[in-house]
Amino acid sequence: MDLLSYVEEHHLYRSKCINLIASENIASPLVRKLLSTDLGHRYAIGFLYTRIYRGCKYIDLIEALTSYLLRSLFKAEHVNYIPISGTLANLIMINALTKPGDSIIALSVMDGGHSSFRECSLVHGVSMIPLPFDHKSYNIDVDGAERLIRRVKPRIVLLGASDILFPHPVKELSHISREEDCIVAYDAAHVLGLIAGGRFQDPLREGADIVTGSTHKTFFGPQGGIILCRRDYSETIDHSAWQLVNNHHINRVAALAAATCEMQAFGEAYADQVVRNAKKLAEALYNEGVNVLCSDIGFTESHQVIIDVGKGRAAGVSNRLEEANIIVNPTPLPWDRYEGEASGIRLGVQEVTRLGMKEDCMESIAKLIADIILERKNPSEVRCYTEPLADNYQKIHFCFNTDDEAYRYFYLEYLVKELKIQI
Ligand SMILES: Cc1ncc(COP(=O)(O)O)c(C=O)c1O
Repeated sequence: MDLLSYVEEHHLYRSKCINLIASENIASPLVRKLLSTDLGHRYAIGFLYTRIYRGCKYIDLIEALTSYLLRSLFKAEHVNYIPISGTLANLIMINALTKPGDSIIALSVMDGGHSSFRECSLVHGVSMIPLPFDHKSYNIDVDGAERLIRRVKPRIVLLGASDILFPHPVKELSHISREEDCIVAYDAAHVLGLIAGGRFQDPLREGADIVTGSTHKTFFGPQGGIILCRRDYSETIDHSAWQLVNNHHINRVAALAAATCEMQAFGEAYADQVVRNAKKLAEALYNEGVNVLCSDIGFTESHQVIIDVGKGRAAGVSNRLEEANIIVNPTPLPWDRYEGEASGIRLGVQEVTRLGMKEDCMESIAKLIADIILERKNPSEVRCYTEPLADNYQKIHFCFNTDDEAYRYFYLEYLVKELKIQI
């Protein structure tokens, strides 16, 4: 085998899988083509129209357009698209708005928060205090959070999470945060595409001062990060981004602009179908006998479904699902003692929705997953059903050009045959 064959094999393999990783998506042919342009070889250090390296006259126009498109889509006074990941967006925000010795409050990893909440705080000498979490509503405990904010007076109250089934109490907590002089931030890494499509809460309208996020989960752009904020934070955020990112990958910026246009055109229909699919998948799994969280409160209002497969079983179940070509990740649940003991599996339906799957497919997928979790069939038997189902959905929807195959291997195919790098 050589390098190119490995990549090609990866494409072929993924075309036969059903991907339910909640933090991934598949980008349109247009987005993928823009990623392979000359822009990916260039620097544009500095700010719009005042670059340090010369040769940026078209890059400035591309970036001005990207900024305009994103501000319009999210009705934000300011956008910063410099972070090359959601983690970096959080670091830039924390670096901009806190000083060592400050504290922030946010959900812990065990309660669905992201590791960057704590890690990005720690590298800046800031302590992270966990927000109280209510198991029953699978959401932030508002009363407990209020008491904590009053007592600790953190610099930032950070809402949003990696495991997020329902809108967070932004309205409820922003009022009191303001009284205590705290900044309200919302990490929309997971739900950015649902916000863009108007199918989830809109944190900026509900009282958040600043929103960070990833551009490649429910938002179906290139991998990257983003910060949306009020105009009065723009200077400090842009300065912090400039401090922490020297090279912001301009091909990604152009691809982000294209994805933003697709979101403007198709976002509403896409987000609507994502949430319908998530609800249907949850309900169908529940009817199959799987322990789906929040069955008494409608399972989910996002792209995610979370199931409990029993203490310490999530890693093994994920492996067996992988053998059946169903790709998922284990996640710790609030009642697990530590991360390694994870009993949760998190499912996300945004990628399969992008491939055109609707509620009927969710029922089929639920059956396949239940066959594995409830040990009704072995993985290779299940794979015989997964592959043909995946095979029927090979076009990307909710984008301008739907001609190319979703998992087609097309960037490297014209490379010279001599490039056979042996490993
Ligand atoms: C809530 C949240 N914030 C930040 C991140 C980090 O995003 P990225 O992988 O783009 O660095 C994630 C990743 O899943 C996340 O779930």
